[in-house]
Amino acid sequence: MINDVHILAIETSCDETAAAVVKNGTCVLSNVISSQIDIHAEFGGVVPEIASRKHIENIDYVILEALKTANMNFDDVDAVAVTYGPGLVGALLVGLSTAKAISFATKKPLIGVHHIEGHICANYIDNEDFKPPFICLVVSGGHTHLVHVKDYNEFEILGKTLDDAAGEAFDKVARVIGLGYPGGPKIDKLVREHGGDRKAIQFPRAYISEGSYDFSFSGIKSAVLNYVNKCKMADISFSENDLAASFQEAVIEVLVSKAIKAAEEKKISKIALAGGVASNSFLREAMGKACQEKSFLLNVPKPVYCTDNAAMIGSAAYYEFIKNRFFDLDLNAYPNLRLGQRL
Ligand code: KG4
Ligand code: ZN
Repeated sequence: MINDVHILAIETSCDETAAAVVKNGTCVLSNVISSQIDIHAEFGGVVPEIASRKHIENIDYVILEALKTANMNFDDVDAVAVTYGPGLVGALLVGLSTAKAISFATKKPLIGVHHIEGHICANYIDNEDFKPPFICLVVSGGHTHLVHVKDYNEFEILGKTLDDAAGEAFDKVARVIGLGYPGGPKIDKLVREHGGDRKAIQFPRAYISEGSYDFSFSGIKSAVLNYVNKCKMADISFSENDLAASFQEAVIEVLVSKAIKAAEEKKISKIALAGGVASNSFLREAMGKACQEKSFLLNVPKPVYCTDNAAMIGSAAYYEFIKNRFFDLDLNAYPNLRLGQRL
């Protein structure tokens, strides 16, 4: 009989200090997140040096809280998992050094997890029936990837952004209309609460080229900026709600259509969403509708597992654990680690 596997997972790649205990890759016993959003909001975006310092201040408490909530101590866990890339190098190093220290002191194996792999594995949480293969649209603040998830640890990147990530576009547009950081949830909320005509302004849709699964969001970002500047110079007032709704519609249309096309072409009837932008209520709705029309199954993690968290790292680590894929204590942080890259 295979015993239950409990993994203590740590995530510090950006501005959330997070720790979790996850059982067998799908059952979350604790999920503690200490967000630094309020601190970085003052600067309009994440300040890497501040992020590292705040991780150092918070990490011990966050880990102890995760163990306490799970009613466990270090001896009860089977492995320590940590995000080792991609991300901000200083921020990653805080989580990595802590995980290595725990691994060394407790003699528990160390598992390095790719951050995007973690986002994808958020789809397995509380969801034992959802299994590869599937097409996953990963949309976060730093990444936009369309991935064919062939197996738990096997990924084929079908397309990715050539410039800005989807979340980055949301954040920049929100800044232009004065909504502040992080922009994604603010645009989502503004349009949800105040309406806004999604057809009011025809922003460009970047399909790149026929058959391409790549994305580009820098054009729409510039188009929004140009629109706002033109209105200001001509002293014409414009509706921020309409602008936000039209921008969001343009981004979502491209994301949905490329994901659906990939599923059709690969003959895979399952689609999953992942990453912070996957918590966008309009994207979830639009993808749901498109999947229903094609009779595809759509899986979307709960919003708390879409934005950065350690439970998703604990889930991804389980599929490494059962294959005995562990790391030595000389594991380094890799800010540009590619999905599927093994070191
Ligand atoms: O996955 P995540 O927490 O961190 C990274 O790995 O980057 O994603 C953060 C991004 C930010 O750009 C944020 O604006 C965006 O996700 N985001 C959203 C929503 N919630 C978070 N974008 C659109 N709508 C949302 N509801
Ligand atoms: Zn992330």
